[in-house]
Amino acid sequence: MFFNRKKKKAEIDMTRLPVHIGVIMDGNGRWAKKRGLPRSAGHQAGADTLKKIVTECNKMGIKYITVYAFSTENWKRPQAEVDFLMNLLMSYLLDAERTLAGENVRIRAIGSRTELSSEMQEQIKKTEAFTSKNDGIVMNIALNYGSREELVRATQNLAEKVKNGEISVEDISADAISSELYTGGQPDPDLIIRTSNEQRLSNFMMWQASYSELYYTETLWPDFSISDLYDAILEYQKRDRRYGGVK
Ligand code: FPP
Repeated sequence: MFFNRKKKKAEIDMTRLPVHIGVIMDGNGRWAKKRGLPRSAGHQAGADTLKKIVTECNKMGIKYITVYAFSTENWKRPQAEVDFLMNLLMSYLLDAERTLAGENVRIRAIGSRTELSSEMQEQIKKTEAFTSKNDGIVMNIALNYGSREELVRATQNLAEKVKNGEISVEDISADAISSELYTGGQPDPDLIIRTSNEQRLSNFMMWQASYSELYYTETLWPDFSISDLYDAILEYQKRDRRYGGVK
């Protein structure tokens, strides 16, 4: 298996890697159910997978990874699951200061923070500050994130600037909108991976994904391996990106 993985890696054109990868980590619940385990066990396993995948992306030289950890809609889940996910995220951030931070990963949270507990808000600030000097991969953890909320917020910010006379209506361009998003200043994702064979964006990076290559796999997130990551990158490298033009 390890030999196969090495072989696969050798096939990747390291000069044409995606700069930014987005990941919709789906299928934790189904993974747990298949094993007769509680859904929480699937989330725990998913968090371990995430650490492994981010570490490998960083080693490969990928510059940004955005992972969908908790959407603005996930509050609708049973309270016990929401509480478990929040606790898991808290301990993930704490643990990252020991592990991912040491690997030169820079961690940022994207999404609306006001609905998060004050402890979570504090922990996010701490982890962001702790890793702010790292110049390896930037890991955006989408936490209470939704594209629609992000676009509403960006629109409100721009309207406020017009109202204050800082900009004129004509200054509202695609670039101006992009820079008001949580990912402002970062390149759009080249590749978005969604596991568990659900084929939709589910309110994830809808503006930024305009020209992203979408990759769907049946693999459930906790099972997503480094070899699966290579498969996604190899498939990405076969795609013909025309951005609406012709070649
Ligand atoms: C979707 O699977 C997954 C989530 C809603 C949460 C994603 C969270 C993790 C991978 C772990 C925690 C993340 C961090 C950053 C620590 P699902 O529960 O919808 O699975 P299902 O569709 O099979 O029910």
